[in-house]
Amino acid sequence: MNPKPTQDFGGGVYLLQDMEWVVIAVGVTTICLVTSLCWWLLHDENKKKEMRRGKIPKGSLGWPIIGETLHFISSGYSSKPPPLTFLEKRKSLYGNVFKTNILGSNVIVSTEVEVNKVILLNQGNIFVSAYPKSIREIFGDYSILHMTGTLHRNMHALIISFLRSPHFKARITSDIERSVKHCLLTWKHATPHQPIYVQDQVKMITFPVLVKVLMSVSGGEELKLLKKDFQEFVKGLICVPIKFPGTRLYKSLKAKERMVKIVKRIMEERMKNTSSTSRSDEENDVVDVMLRNDWNPKPTLEMMSSNIIELTIPGEETVPTAMTIAIFFLSNSPLALSKLIEENMELKRHKTSTDNKYAWTDYMSLPFTQNVISETLRMANIVNGIWRKAQKDVEIKGYLIPKGWCVMACLTSVHLDSNNYENPFKFDPWRWEKIGAAASNNCYAPFGGGQRLCPGWELSRLELAIFLHHLVTTYRWVADRDEIQYFPTVKMRRKLPIISVEPINA
Ligand code: HEM
Repeated sequence: MNPKPTQDFGGGVYLLQDMEWVVIAVGVTTICLVTSLCWWLLHDENKKKEMRRGKIPKGSLGWPIIGETLHFISSGYSSKPPPLTFLEKRKSLYGNVFKTNILGSNVIVSTEVEVNKVILLNQGNIFVSAYPKSIREIFGDYSILHMTGTLHRNMHALIISFLRSPHFKARITSDIERSVKHCLLTWKHATPHQPIYVQDQVKMITFPVLVKVLMSVSGGEELKLLKKDFQEFVKGLICVPIKFPGTRLYKSLKAKERMVKIVKRIMEERMKNTSSTSRSDEENDVVDVMLRNDWNPKPTLEMMSSNIIELTIPGEETVPTAMTIAIFFLSNSPLALSKLIEENMELKRHKTSTDNKYAWTDYMSLPFTQNVISETLRMANIVNGIWRKAQKDVEIKGYLIPKGWCVMACLTSVHLDSNNYENPFKFDPWRWEKIGAAASNNCYAPFGGGQRLCPGWELSRLELAIFLHHLVTTYRWVADRDEIQYFPTVKMRRKLPIISVEPINA
């Protein structure tokens, strides 16, 4: 074989072949390198994912789209405090912190005190409030519930310092008394055929009080209009979040617009009269608090009015529920009721003999009454859990909460855990004599905690104490059978009918 021509030509061939080999070798090497790199990266990512998955609390996400919502809702209608039945089952399967998917979101549910504490204390930087869409729409953009950072801190401090001030409590005490006495007047007509429904009645106490606190409207046409629109407004809290004429959400938002108009007008009038009022005067209501604050930047009147209306929601649904459930527990606990009567009758006799007006401190310093209130709030769990959304991956006590997931710090299961409370399902106000102050107890958070601690907690306890005092020193009553329903909100199934009332001649 003469390789020459080939060589000549073939040299080129060989040369080409050499180059091919080089190309192939480089190609293969590159592919190998890239593949190895990809494999390494993927492997590493998988490893990370696996590690993350390992740390995401155990649990089931249920069915596609609906997740475990059906079980969550159905357990709400059982007589045991739910979502306790839902929670207990998962707790026993997966532990104190578990994952689920309810109401359209992946949620990590914590029933552990220490984890809850971290969630509540890290509002803003790691967690933000996460409410269902209809609630977000109803509360609106300016709501305190959507605020974050400095604006939230300032707004929260502003409201809490006003609602907790002794000056405010002194002023509001007589308004609450008036409202309670007015409501109780009609109770004497209760019969088995025409019962008094506590759940409806107590709303007549709390709404006028709240409107007075917020904007000093007391009675008259304005209060009636606000009440009517408020009822329409709150119906939209739990509804399909679709907004066009005729839908529930649309009607609720229209009602809110009308309420905002009334508040805006009140604010404008107040501003006109401000020149005659010196800045050193005490603030009389939340309208004053908002108008006199040194905002930077200053919100518009529209924003402030909207914010004031949004404050009615957490304030108005919760206190009447607590009042109703207190009566329910007391009606079924004769010993606790008689001790409550004894303590309150003593105060009443003392006040009558000295012809003295009641001060807010009189009500707040009745120890057994305060224990009844603490116990009611522990068992009622009016706000059963606090919802937040993780802004970034966060690990708490070895549990990973991935970015974008919701987390629910469950208050109900902590309040009804036998590790935290002996005989947790027993209404036992005396337990607080042993436990001590409810406010300093880690396992007790009916008003939440951290930066979003309920600003209305002292006002609520004051309203409850005044209501209980005047009820138990005015009447003996008989309540018909009823039970608590926990979903979608906590309330009495039959609105707690009172079928007979006997006035006390003290
Ligand atoms: C028994 C009655 C009440 C209960 C059980 C209750 C419970 C709560 C809870 C658990 C939170 C925390 C929510 C969270 O962290 O996301 C909260 C927040 C709030 N509550 Fe109450 N509340 C009651 C009465 C009131 C009253 C009477 C007012 C108003 C006068 C009020 C105004 C608010 C406001 C404005 C917030 C939002 C605070 C913030 O996000 O910074 N609440 N409440």
